[in-house]
Amino acid sequence: MAAGYRPAPRDERPAVGIGMLGYGFMGRAHSNALRQLPSTFWPGGCRPRLVGIAGRTESAVAEAATRYGWEQYATDWRTLVEDPQVEVFDNAGPDAMHVEPTLAAIAAGKHVVCEKPLALAVADAQRLYDAAEAAGVKHLTCFNYRFMPAVRLAHELVKGGELGELHQVRFRYSQEWRTDADAELPAPAGALNIIGCHAIDQARFLVGEIAGVSARFASPVTTPVRECRGEPVEQDDTVAILAEFDSGVVGTIDASLVSPGRKNMLAWELNGSKGSLSWSLEQLNHLHVHRRGNGSTQGFTEVIVTEPDHVLAAPWWPSAHILGWEHGHANMLAHFLHAVVEDEPVGPYGATFADGLAAARVGEASHASAQSGRHVTVTPVGASV
Ligand SMILES: NC(=O)c1ccc[n+]([C@@H]2O[C@H](COP(=O)([O-])OP(=O)(O)OC[C@H]3O[C@@H](n4cnc5c(N)ncnc54)[C@H](O)[C@@H]3O)[C@@H](O)[C@H]2O)c1
Repeated sequence: MAAGYRPAPRDERPAVGIGMLGYGFMGRAHSNALRQLPSTFWPGGCRPRLVGIAGRTESAVAEAATRYGWEQYATDWRTLVEDPQVEVFDNAGPDAMHVEPTLAAIAAGKHVVCEKPLALAVADAQRLYDAAEAAGVKHLTCFNYRFMPAVRLAHELVKGGELGELHQVRFRYSQEWRTDADAELPAPAGALNIIGCHAIDQARFLVGEIAGVSARFASPVTTPVRECRGEPVEQDDTVAILAEFDSGVVGTIDASLVSPGRKNMLAWELNGSKGSLSWSLEQLNHLHVHRRGNGSTQGFTEVIVTEPDHVLAAPWWPSAHILGWEHGHANMLAHFLHAVVEDEPVGPYGATFADGLAAARVGEASHASAQSGRHVTVTPVGASV
């Protein structure tokens, strides 16, 4: 050490060992989020220790380990599950890999994070939820949009009665990447599983439980002969759900992968007796708020949600030094690790496996409705089936 320097004090906060499956889009997003936590959530918080990352292809997972800052890599996820240094198993693998590795991690006593959709089949989502509850481990479904500052502020406003009684709610998630019938598909999942489940979770988070649905699916572009990396492709380019909530409010939830010009538009509008809220992920730092009764100046006000009193923005940067898409994952994983270290509940702000299961049940009821042409009741989580 050169003269004049002193060694930096050690970071004495508890380290939490993480093992992650997957090094693709979400593997990078989760790694990036975990690496931002120690300096942002300070003092307090914890130090995620990036113990190991797993994937199938050795050269690629080795490169990912170096690039994303993991200590070690493995070509079999079981290495992570068997490692006592791994306290949290983070499943950022593809949809079809959510069930078996996550169940194995739960059986090994790990706390578990799983990307959405929790499982492709409701029975599998139920198994995951039941196993995690029985084992007493913390569990998180990655509905990361709950952790956008605007979404949390809207949640507080709705729960605080600021909108009065909700009269009409609309949720949508629109993208465009299936519009071209010849383009290579990045994933086999259709509109419901790839983005619709996020819209369903936003609806449940902001409005409440969904009691029943009427739904239609359509595939105007994607035909049954199409494949993605040799797998069949789900036949829903679009889904439209008419949802009746437990509270009695009726609203719509839709998702589309064939909306030209809509790059990543998760958006919603809530209309209540006292006012309205509206938000879009494409302008994620702005919550539009309308309160009735402001005379000739009434209308929607654009609130920039990056002030110190916006709870999910406060740990980051000074006023209006805006946040990006990746901060949702960072806030979500910070919340989860805090719950692990302090033994606090993950819900109601974090989506647990109960929320992953609930979203799957809304999806299942939507398919049943589309097949029967009838309104279908959604079985609540916790009810016997
Ligand atoms: N929350 C979000 O905003 C969001 C966004 C995109 C994707 N997702 C979800 O995240 C998950 C991962 O999606 P992605 O976009 O990162 O996919 P991806 O294709 O970019 O990456 C998937 C990773 O899993 C690995 N993998 C694939 N098959 C495997 C196997 N059999 N065994 C071990 N590893 C395997 C791949 O090598 C790759 O590292 C999916 O469930 C997806 O639905 C969530």
